[in-house]
Amino acid sequence: MTKQNIMLTPGPTPLPPEVLEALSRPIIHHRTEEFGQVFVDVEEGLKRIFRTKSPVYMMASSGTGAMEAAAVNLLSPSDKVIVLSTGVFGDRFAAILKAYGVSPIVVQEEWGNAANPETLKKALLDNPGVKAVFFQHTDTSTGIVNDIKALSEVVHKNSQALVVVDSVSGLAAEPLEMDAWGLDVVASASQKGLMNAPGLSFAAVNDRAWTAVEAAKLPRFYFDWRTMKKFLPTRQTPYTPSINLIVAQLEAIKLIEKEGLENVWKNTDELAAYTRKRVQEIGLTLFAKDPANILTAALVPETVDSKKLVAQILRETGISIAGGQGKLEGRLIRIAHMGYITRHDVDEGFKALEKYLPRKEKV
Ligand SMILES: Cc1ncc(COP(=O)(O)O)c(C=O)c1O
Repeated sequence: MTKQNIMLTPGPTPLPPEVLEALSRPIIHHRTEEFGQVFVDVEEGLKRIFRTKSPVYMMASSGTGAMEAAAVNLLSPSDKVIVLSTGVFGDRFAAILKAYGVSPIVVQEEWGNAANPETLKKALLDNPGVKAVFFQHTDTSTGIVNDIKALSEVVHKNSQALVVVDSVSGLAAEPLEMDAWGLDVVASASQKGLMNAPGLSFAAVNDRAWTAVEAAKLPRFYFDWRTMKKFLPTRQTPYTPSINLIVAQLEAIKLIEKEGLENVWKNTDELAAYTRKRVQEIGLTLFAKDPANILTAALVPETVDSKKLVAQILRETGISIAGGQGKLEGRLIRIAHMGYITRHDVDEGFKALEKYLPRKEKV
């Protein structure tokens, strides 16, 4: 196989030429009319992608920054919170909260399953007065998608808690309706479905959540949404933004909107179905019982170390496939099919897998 640069990783994902071109433009200053217009256009475009009328705060950080921002802006140390953990990223929410002295009630789902709305209901009824419930839209470590509409409904029917969703890997790939589904805070980042380079994170925050932001007592400075809100009318961020990433984000938003967000969801769904079929055809076992459309996670045979396999494929073909994370390291391969990833890219990934998976393991 000739060596080629193909990214099948669930973030970063490949960048369209229009985005690469924008990243390489001469830098402009962020306290100018020119940048102000780009900032507003990105803000408005993101609102359409998050399906919200609420403001979207842009932060110079990776997605974890937006998760941390949600914790520090919404909570006080004595608050009771629930984390629905479906893998590495639910555990990360719990770790962030613990780092700030908040002890979350962690509802652990078996890896590979989506969070169960009935289990959530029980947890809410057993723990009255919960301030916020944190969960993932898609958990990239296991390849599951949560029914965030159903989970949000359960939260609102059974408590006053805020619904905080990590859609770092789900946004602009899987359906998400922030306002219609009652999601109070949605966190995301630039480097996955949003088809931009890593380094920008986003948090959409509705009015219900804003009441909590004003009352929250956890320490915060750089990620303080109150400061960001003051700067919004000036079309600026409080501190130096990732200027070229924001300029490039506008190009990616234009591409998403040219295709149509619902078509993006549909095309991602089709490529996911195709990938799941191919995975089974080469004799691997699908891992997620509630599979997401952003990526396909597959178990490799026990005798294969997936970490070594993906390293060899990258070294010899230039194709990046993700291995497993956390307790699934060495056991899983994860093939992404979101953003700018094409069917051709996926096919090249399968050619490599067919070549490098030990022959006897393919039956
Ligand atoms: C679901 C999910 N949440 C959070 C993150 C963390 O984002 P970052 O690596 O940009 O900090 C990721 C990254 O892979 C993710 O997939």
